[in-house]
Amino acid sequence: MRPRSGGIPIIKRDDLIFSLKLVRKMRNPKTRFDEVEFVKKGRDYLFNYAEKNVGPLDPSRRAFLKAVLIGIGVAAVASAVPIVSYLNQPEISLNTFPWIIIVDSSGNPIKASQLKVNNPEILIFQYPMEGDITFLLNLGDENDNPIQVPPTTVTIPENGVTYSFPGGVGPNKSIVAYSAICQHLGCAPPEIHFYPPKYMKVGLPTPNYLPGVALQAAQQANAPGIIHCDCHGSSYDPYHGASVLTGPTVRPLPYVQLYWDSNTDFLYAVSMNLKAPVILGHSSDLSGYAYLSSYDESTGCKKLLLKSNQTPSNCYSEVQNYGNTFQG
Ligand code: FES
Repeated sequence: MRPRSGGIPIIKRDDLIFSLKLVRKMRNPKTRFDEVEFVKKGRDYLFNYAEKNVGPLDPSRRAFLKAVLIGIGVAAVASAVPIVSYLNQPEISLNTFPWIIIVDSSGNPIKASQLKVNNPEILIFQYPMEGDITFLLNLGDENDNPIQVPPTTVTIPENGVTYSFPGGVGPNKSIVAYSAICQHLGCAPPEIHFYPPKYMKVGLPTPNYLPGVALQAAQQANAPGIIHCDCHGSSYDPYHGASVLTGPTVRPLPYVQLYWDSNTDFLYAVSMNLKAPVILGHSSDLSGYAYLSSYDESTGCKKLLLKSNQTPSNCYSEVQNYGNTFQG
């Protein structure tokens, strides 16, 4: 957690998804949180409750819950109400989508022509707000040659609504960006990740086990690679707007519209399609729990193209590497 402007702590994306699930369980009459037991037993009761109703607590999730209790202080052990309201923080909004340049860990703009094709490493940036993690993919064929990703119409299986996906950008029109939050129940990388064409085999070792049903669906859709969520098996076609290949998800991954400046080779995240599914956990893609740390509230990060020798001082999103899920 880190403070939001104004001093109110905000929650990281992964912890946020966990918090939303926990709050839902606490409010459900069938799994109601027992305040009397909590007052008696303190944090052990909370940990046991979370493990039983939401899932195993890894050390970072345990540390997060501890931080919540410390942050709330004595109020937390007098009643569960402060915990619920703390975990259920109000959203904040953007008026319009910001114009954000994508940079590397040194703050230098990423060059589209240097993005590795079919990279098995998970590259993520945040857009439009903090915690809205998004895959950055340069798609290719089985020989790792870039593939032009065409515009397409995507259907939402849940309701039959369709929307337009504008296709890839960059020198080969092969670069795309999709939300990295699974639309089923919110699993995030590394559980959800891209399988480049050379990993499209059934039975790779865990955590890279691709079920036959997903492989078959990809072949039928003419998708050389796939985004697959190892949590419950949802899969998405990154070559066709991240449309749904296999459930249980009934919604495609929302996409982030990229802009490629052919003069500088820089990439910008500029918008999202409000007809596409909303980033899981939000009421709108224009709402979230914190602005990007580089967001300029005075300008709203309007369109601004950098020159090739410039590095941005604000309105940027840094690419993070979550590692290669096919190694180790
Ligand atoms: S959260 Fe991804 S398949 Fe369930």
